[in-house]
Amino acid sequence: MTVYTASCTAPVNIATLKYWGKRDKSLNLPTNSSISVTLSQKDLRTLTTASTSSEFTEDKLWLNGKLESLESPRTKACLQDLRKLRAQVESSNAELPKLSTYKLHIVSENNFPTAAGLASSAAGFAALVSSIAKLYKLPEDMSELSKIARKGSGSACRSLFGGFVAWEMGELTNGEDSKAVEVAPLSHWPTLKAAILVVSDDKKDTPSTSGMQLTVGTSDLFQHRIKEVVPARFEEMKKSIIAKDFEKFGELTMKDSNSFHAVCLDSYPPIFYLNDTSKKIIKLIHKLNELEGKIIAAYTFDAGPNAVIYYDEVNESKVLGLLHNYFSKLGGWESKDLTKLTKVEIEGTDD
Ligand code: ADP
Ligand code: DP6
Ligand code: CO
Repeated sequence: MTVYTASCTAPVNIATLKYWGKRDKSLNLPTNSSISVTLSQKDLRTLTTASTSSEFTEDKLWLNGKLESLESPRTKACLQDLRKLRAQVESSNAELPKLSTYKLHIVSENNFPTAAGLASSAAGFAALVSSIAKLYKLPEDMSELSKIARKGSGSACRSLFGGFVAWEMGELTNGEDSKAVEVAPLSHWPTLKAAILVVSDDKKDTPSTSGMQLTVGTSDLFQHRIKEVVPARFEEMKKSIIAKDFEKFGELTMKDSNSFHAVCLDSYPPIFYLNDTSKKIIKLIHKLNELEGKIIAAYTFDAGPNAVIYYDEVNESKVLGLLHNYFSKLGGWESKDLTKLTKVEIEGTDD
């Protein structure tokens, strides 16, 4: 039996301007554009191996050693799009094996907490799409592949690029213009660093998908966010990245994290992703910036209590030193407040 196999890793990305809300649930089309920073795969990554053979009888996905249901229409949509592209390649070269007609076995592993607000769905679907694209020998057009990854999980479209990435929401109803693009490569701002503070690695009670649906359906504040706040912030944040203006970038990042958690609270019933430790971290970063007289560190929280802190390398000892001191006073890394602090690099596209 011939089995064709390809493996890929994919990084997580942490949004500094958050995607929260879908205008089309089945195509994962967002209600606003978003911006993110891709983190290094040395620390957090998904590793996915895709295999295919004429002898396989059904599509199967193992996630972290467990067989998952492949009933999810999102995974199905990704597989369908990838098979269609492969079929096009096959139709132009009759000698190629007809992999598009074979079933797939996908084995995926995250080396960090799954469904805990650390963007596992982003790295997960980016790795799934990349590994199958490699198996099928599809052209490496990342924006094209990002549209397929988007159908798996919205945030996944941004994980196909390194450095600073925008997901342009697009206007079309078929989603063909809703894709990720590079804002700047890692080499543009190599001194920007991130630290991840794992407050809890528990699975969140409200998954991102259902959380954002509830917000779209019930929050009044959300309308203000998507119409007034985010469009202007999207342009400003891109400018701050191009100008490597940490103060502006940091301010916009913190404000957008707060705005996102505010619309969660304004949902009915409310959604709480931040816990007391998250709030302590927020206060601590504001205190640090106040003492410095300028913004040298910026927090952001996804749909979970874990913090990502962005800072410029020149301020590393101040920022990490403060976090270390503060949390060791509370009983150390293994205390109930914080399980882990990891310093991570930003990821480039060609690593
Ligand atoms: P997170 O904050 O970790 O992104 P989400 O609620 O957005 O949490 O998504 C978690 C879901 O993403 C998981 O329950 C699983 O269905 C999917 N997922 C996570 N990792 C992978 C992976 N490596 N391959 C395929 N799907 C994955
Ligand atoms: C708070 O991409 O996980 O992390 O598209 O339903 O899979 P689905 O949601 P997902 O949502 C991410 C939400 C966020 C913000 C962001 O990453 O932009
Ligand atoms: Co997610």
